[in-house]
Amino acid sequence: MTKKTIVAMPGDGIGSVVLEAAIKVLKAAGFEADYEFADIGWEFWKKEGNPLPDRTIELLKKHKIGLFGAITSKPKDAAAAELAPELQGKGLVYASPIVGMRQLFDLDICIRPCKTYLGNPLNFIRRGAAGNIEEPFVDVVIFRQNTECLYSGVEWSNPPEQVYEAFKTHKAFLKNFGNVPKDEISISARIFTKKYTGRILRAAFEHARHNGYKSVTVCEKPNVIRETSGMMYKMAQDMQRNEYPEIALWNTNIDAQMMWLTKNPEDYGVIVAGNMFGDIVSDGFAGLIGGLGFACSANLGEEIAVFEPTHGSAPKYADYPVSIVNPIAMIASACMMLHHIGEKAKAERIEKAIAEIISEGLVKTYDMLKMTGSPDVIKNGAASTMQMADAIIAKL
Ligand code: NAI
Ligand code: MG
Repeated sequence: MTKKTIVAMPGDGIGSVVLEAAIKVLKAAGFEADYEFADIGWEFWKKEGNPLPDRTIELLKKHKIGLFGAITSKPKDAAAAELAPELQGKGLVYASPIVGMRQLFDLDICIRPCKTYLGNPLNFIRRGAAGNIEEPFVDVVIFRQNTECLYSGVEWSNPPEQVYEAFKTHKAFLKNFGNVPKDEISISARIFTKKYTGRILRAAFEHARHNGYKSVTVCEKPNVIRETSGMMYKMAQDMQRNEYPEIALWNTNIDAQMMWLTKNPEDYGVIVAGNMFGDIVSDGFAGLIGGLGFACSANLGEEIAVFEPTHGSAPKYADYPVSIVNPIAMIASACMMLHHIGEKAKAERIEKAIAEIISEGLVKTYDMLKMTGSPDVIKNGAASTMQMADAIIAKL
């Protein structure tokens, strides 16, 4: 196999330490690659007025594979206030570089697996009928449409006249908002297209077929959001009937799903949803398998793919002399990258090493010990970020 170049984007806060840990594990597993380090995040917003510089975009276009730590994002006004003095007042508006990257490169398929690590003290438990404690084995893969829905950025406060007039052609708008002054209205559009809805559904069904999952659950709200959620469910029904008859198609509403996942999470396999509900349901399932220290993800387009933990930059832990955060989410994301580029054996070796470390229970980061994060956790027995990475390496 030819040597790959990986675009490594540490980003902000704990992004750099978890990425460093992941690259160390990749090397130890024998994955030979060149790493091009690329700029992204808050520092570049402040210094250059652009959190996703063109040079980073070029590197991704060239090398196609990105490994990404995390970034800091802040609301519009706070962002404007932190710009370098020479950039202030130029009308620069902050936009999240991750959302930007997903849209620019059409990374429309987001995959977030949530699988129980046996022995993880953070695993979800529940009480059984006899009062006993049960620990269901969760093995869910969420397919989240990554570029449309409420995150597409089509939104207005005090919408332009044309938009307002167009909305007034809708009966429900007239009835519910017809008397509200225009400047008191904010609108965020929820747009689904057949092309991208079809792509995320197909990705979900294919994953189910090739990985032994018996069901695909569309997790939306078609009974109320009839056009967008309704279109997704209808397309899923057609696709299942015509192309994936061996896979059961289930339909849950996002609100009910958030309740069911604390009752019978082991019943679900592949879950597919639009951008917003996919974000919600994947955080819900991540909570059952240990939370942000364990939640990994892939953002896949037709050409380019970016792999990242779902956690953010955790600024409060960013400047610790010895980093305490859990690198497993980032390392598991790196494993998803290995699978994507055909390095299955190396991915599986690392995944097995992670599982062994967790089930042995000798090396645990502060989150696994249910400690409150502070520099003291290390002297109270928690493993540092790098000690966890080294323990995984030792298992390899
Ligand atoms: P966060 O995910 O950075 O941290 C929330 C809390 O989760 C932390 O305080 C910590 O207790 C825990 N946590 C996160 N990662 C962990 C790890 N690897 N090991 C152990 N514990 C971990 O979310 P928060 O605090 O809401 O946001 C901080 C910044 O990150 C914000 O600026 C936000 O916009 C940004 N963010 C970026 C994301 C990304 O880069 N993909 C995703 C989410 C938030
Ligand atoms: Mg989220």
